[in-house]
Amino acid sequence: ISLQPYNTFGVNVSCRQFVQVSEEDQLPRLFESGLLTKDFFVLGGGSNVLFTKDYDGLILQMSNKGISHFIEGNFIYITAKAGEVWNDFVWYCVSRGFAGVENMALIPGTVGASPIQNIGAYGTELMDIFYSCRAFDTTTGLFTTFNNEDCKFTYRDSIFKSTYKGRFIITSVTYKLHIHHRVNTSYGAINAELQKRGISSPSIRDVAETVAAIRVEKLPDPSTIGNAGSFFKNPIIEAKQLKELQREYPAIVFYPLEDNRVKLAAGWLIESCGWKGKVDGNVAVWKNQALVITNLGQASGTEIYTVSSKIMNDVYKKFGITLEREVNVL
Ligand code: FAD
Ligand code: EPU
Repeated sequence: ISLQPYNTFGVNVSCRQFVQVSEEDQLPRLFESGLLTKDFFVLGGGSNVLFTKDYDGLILQMSNKGISHFIEGNFIYITAKAGEVWNDFVWYCVSRGFAGVENMALIPGTVGASPIQNIGAYGTELMDIFYSCRAFDTTTGLFTTFNNEDCKFTYRDSIFKSTYKGRFIITSVTYKLHIHHRVNTSYGAINAELQKRGISSPSIRDVAETVAAIRVEKLPDPSTIGNAGSFFKNPIIEAKQLKELQREYPAIVFYPLEDNRVKLAAGWLIESCGWKGKVDGNVAVWKNQALVITNLGQASGTEIYTVSSKIMNDVYKKFGITLEREVNVL
């Protein structure tokens, strides 16, 4: 079947087999039938994948739904099944006054994918609210639970992208949210937008709406322009290296981290190489955010990949920094 409707780049590739899993107890049956010993790939909303060729195996999409919660002390433990749409889940929480997810409004994709790259935006990361997840081990055929520490979350990374890559199928995620609201407006762009709206003591709903407005302004909507959000991670370097770079590039954009390291804005590096808004065949770099590569309509996955390599070469030549792709390339 064609995977074009199942990836936000809108790349036209096919797979040999496609299965939607609407209940987690289908997984042990798939395991027993031997389907999970051959090539398989778990797909959520397809908003962080780039298919460069047909997939000669089974694509398995979690489509199980349901949200439940209980309250203990000042915390809400809320469990969402993997197939829930992340943004719907965010609004489910915001509308009930459950605080903690509002800064991550409008991130595309599913609940099941949220721990994979420790999604994050506008001052919050998934690891700040992740409590546990339930996952099916495709090597043993058993279900298991991962707590926050087990997942080894760091910036845009988790154990599911390294040691356990391709092994576990996440079937639900439990988040620990707050009854008492402590809004986080530390991200510069949020503050600026709140001021513009004349809001001085924002509610979690104000934060979610503000973040959503900023995102609509800055990022292309995948339903009309194929893309997968940031194509690269923001590179993390030593403060010492930053100092050297600043001598030549005083305007370089960075965020301080702990242990004498800094995170650079890859968008700035890419823009400085002249790529912002640039068209290369069927591919273009987004005009409002140079970290986003878009499909002008007919691009193949290979074309998109080739442009990403050209960008990486240019950034390396100019700054001596190797960008790392955030998107999962298949
Ligand atoms: P997919 O793209 O389908 O899959 C991503 C990875 O997760 C794959 O490796 C897949 O195998 C794995 N996976 C998916 N579901 C499961 C499961 N149930 N069990 C095990 N593995 C699974 N990301 C951010 O962090 N912050 C942002 O601000 C952000 N902005 C974006 C803006 C746009 C316009 C777009 C298109 C993307 C953006 N992204 C952002 C990237 C994307 O939204 C996230 O990576 C999201 O978590 C992907 O979810 P998905 O369901 O589409 O996963
Ligand atoms: N910048 C430029 N030129 C550009 C883009 C950015 O100079 O073309 C500079 C600007 O100075 C800007 C700064 O970089 O102020 C930061 O830009 P932005 O606020 O857009 O954030 P980002 O660092 O580019 C990251 C995430 C996004 C996330 C935003 C908001 C990564 C790889 N990307 O982008 O996540 O939404 O912060 O928190 O960490 C994604 O992962 O797909 C994604 C969109």
